[in-house]
Amino acid sequence: MTRLANKVSLVIGGVGGIGGAVSQRFASEGAQVYATSRKGAESQPDLAGMGSIHTIQADASNNIDLQRVFEEIRSEQGRIDVLVVNAGLSEYALLGDISEDHFDRTFGLNVRSLVFATREAIDLMQPGGAIVLIGSIAGDIGTKGYGVYGATKAAVRSFTRTWANELAPKGIRVNVVSPGPTDTAMMAAASQEIRDALSSMIPLGRMGRPDEVAAAVLFLASDESSFTTGAELVVDGGMAQV
Ligand SMILES: NC(=O)c1ccc[n+]([C@@H]2O[C@H](COP(=O)([O-])OP(=O)(O)OC[C@H]3O[C@@H](n4cnc5c(N)ncnc54)[C@H](OP(=O)(O)O)[C@@H]3O)[C@@H](O)[C@H]2O)c1
Repeated sequence: MTRLANKVSLVIGGVGGIGGAVSQRFASEGAQVYATSRKGAESQPDLAGMGSIHTIQADASNNIDLQRVFEEIRSEQGRIDVLVVNAGLSEYALLGDISEDHFDRTFGLNVRSLVFATREAIDLMQPGGAIVLIGSIAGDIGTKGYGVYGATKAAVRSFTRTWANELAPKGIRVNVVSPGPTDTAMMAAASQEIRDALSSMIPLGRMGRPDEVAAAVLFLASDESSFTTGAELVVDGGMAQV
């Protein structure tokens, strides 16, 4: 499969979970993939063995780390064709329990890092480029205990619309993939009670798999979606759709 043949791709948070599945799928479609992670390749030895995936240790919330990532891609490739911003965190806190730390940590990674990583990346992007942000159906629904997380993902949906408009004259498309509950470490951290409750709310009767989200990201990253920008592609087994 060669839907991303010779495309230089950067997946921020591209080693574990959904981001790891995206990196693997992109590599299998012919892309040269740069995948960042706080831990580097050690967390996913499978990825380290894939020739077209280059893992870089970098904390997405650290500007110095990000600058190093962009410098490396600039000197090795001179361009980015596809940017995926996947790094994100989710923590439970009812309104009465929201601490400043929880708020700053969640907005700091899910929104602030996403904004500044995307701002830096566009200097390396050209007409035909594609940006795919990872949102969540939590941005559209009011899941108890996930108010701050949901607000960060609503912000991601909003940036998608604005940046699609701003970058259209440059020939760069911007879209968002919004997963529902997906079986990753993030979801494993939730209690069994929360996992069961979530599964019972999904019309297809189960959580999603990271590779199912990666397939949606691939569509929006590839030329198959050449007339799609500013859009949200929801991958949630119908949870927030019916
Ligand atoms: N799983 C779900 O049910 C679900 C549903 C809707 C949306 N999402 C969204 O999908 C995205 C991926 O989630 P996931 O479920 O795959 O979560 P995960 O298994 O916890 O993985 C989180 C990813 O973010 C990276 N990351 C976290 N903090 C980082 C940082 N400071 N710098 C760089 N990378 C960082 C992690 O890499 P390292 O730990 O290696 O740094 C990892 O790749 C997130 O944006 C999440 O909000 C997930």
